[in-house]
Amino acid sequence: MASWDVGTRAWFPNPADGFIPGELVERKKLAADDSTSTVETTEEALRDTHNPNLPPLMNPPMFEAAEDLTNLSHLNEPAILQAIKLRYAQKEIYTYSGIVLIATNPFARVDSLYVPQMVQVYTGKQRNSQAPHLFAIAEEAYTDMLRDTRNQTVVVSGESGAGKTVSAKYIMRYFATRGTPGQSLKGSKSRADAISETEEQILATNPVMEAFGNAKTTRNDNSSRFGKYIEIMFDKQTDIIGARIRTYLLERSRLVFQPLKERNYHIFYQLVAGATERERQELSLLPVDQFEYLNQGGDPRIDGVDDAAEFNITKKAFTTINVSESTQREIFKLLAALLHLGNVKITATRTDSSLSATEPSLEKACAILGLNAADFAKWIIKKQLVTRGEKIMSNLTQQQATVVRDSVAKFIYSSLFDWLVEIINRGLATDAVLQQLHTFIGVLDIYGFEHFAKNSFEQFCINYANEKLQQEFNQHVFKLEQEEYIREEIDWTFIDFSDNQPASI
Ligand SMILES: Nc1ncnc2c1ncn2[C@@H]1O[C@H](COP(=O)(O)OP(=O)(O)OP(=O)(O)O)[C@@H](O)[C@H]1O
Ligand SMILES: [Mg+2]
Repeated sequence: MASWDVGTRAWFPNPADGFIPGELVERKKLAADDSTSTVETTEEALRDTHNPNLPPLMNPPMFEAAEDLTNLSHLNEPAILQAIKLRYAQKEIYTYSGIVLIATNPFARVDSLYVPQMVQVYTGKQRNSQAPHLFAIAEEAYTDMLRDTRNQTVVVSGESGAGKTVSAKYIMRYFATRGTPGQSLKGSKSRADAISETEEQILATNPVMEAFGNAKTTRNDNSSRFGKYIEIMFDKQTDIIGARIRTYLLERSRLVFQPLKERNYHIFYQLVAGATERERQELSLLPVDQFEYLNQGGDPRIDGVDDAAEFNITKKAFTTINVSESTQREIFKLLAALLHLGNVKITATRTDSSLSATEPSLEKACAILGLNAADFAKWIIKKQLVTRGEKIMSNLTQQQATVVRDSVAKFIYSSLFDWLVEIINRGLATDAVLQQLHTFIGVLDIYGFEHFAKNSFEQFCINYANEKLQQEFNQHVFKLEQEEYIREEIDWTFIDFSDNQPASI
């Protein structure tokens, strides 16, 4: 439709639905006191389909659900929402927007989308020859890596619960099961059952990292509480030879505090639910509701999740990445010690605080950690200042001493987390691997934007990281586009976009 004739369809703001469709049924002459020139201008305005003073136009029904939003004739906010909504209703969760893939969370099992045959559908294919899919993005990264001999990165972004981690895992799985084109196209059998040990180890890093770095929040039962960048490494023959993980800012406060309906890191609940009777005895494990570090969020159950079964998955994954059973036992001991530390009762005295070396939880924690309980108790309730050779000791209040106790727990846990990443890398990015490394594909999966009733400094950092990423995206995409227009000598006017620069300096 070239102009606002009768029958033109457009979007109108609506408080309940965002936008509702409308159609021009009649054009009326303006009131008599309007000057003729205004009428003429209005006529002109009605011919301009991009006039920002008029409601945004609808696309013809046939083209409303475009596979790529850039194909929409009328590209405006309601048209974009409509396209994604219509596709979602048809169980099409993926839509392109130029170089970007928009993934809507199906909140339902859509396993058929990711079966090995689907990997084959996308292997060796151009992106626009198949329906939009995560695998097409992975494939594009792979072919670009080969073509340009350059490292690639797939950035997954979105608010908390959007589906970033699930997507990142499917991307990793795609590379692990893809194989080289010759291999995967042979016969109808997928390569999935022939994945190499290295590929298996790379995939096994996921259950481990999630057990220690993910937790239930009010937004997501499996929310990542750290940022992750994994490089999947290829040699000259484009075989996967290893991987390297880098993590960012694990949320430490969660270890000692969880808001209502939230949980601490999954691994603790897995340990309490899945430990053998012997381990339970050895580590003096109590039920979840009796550990202060686990019971603040209330009911610890997650619908559809069996923590004991998850514990077995974590242990199996540990074994796959060559963490021996004895090392696993040491890790679990450390976790139990942290739980006991959280139960240590520091009492308030008239002036400061006291903690006896025989406080039962402290005894348990120290026994497991191999620490001297008397020394440990002393340094929780006292502090020492050293000034020019002089040592001044002072007592802490109950509140200050509790902060010290919690800080020790947070420090130990985050050191454990960093150590885990280190041993994963030691196994998957050995010197031999780094020598053969030709190119890699990175996958970035950070924690999504979030806004809770109470937001800590960590939420600020999480949201800031998301703003930075958005800024990177803006610059990259708009700069790239502009360069292309200049190269092709296209006459264009710069599109005004919502720039978050002020929030991401
Ligand atoms: N492609 C998908 N198919 C099926 N379910 C999905 C898919 N993507 C997401 N989900 C569902 O949504 C939940 C949340 O997804 P995910 O954990 O990936 O979110 P996230 O973006 O990583 O969030 P956060 O920032 O909190 O880590 C998943 O546990 C799963 O139930
Ligand atoms: Mg996540």
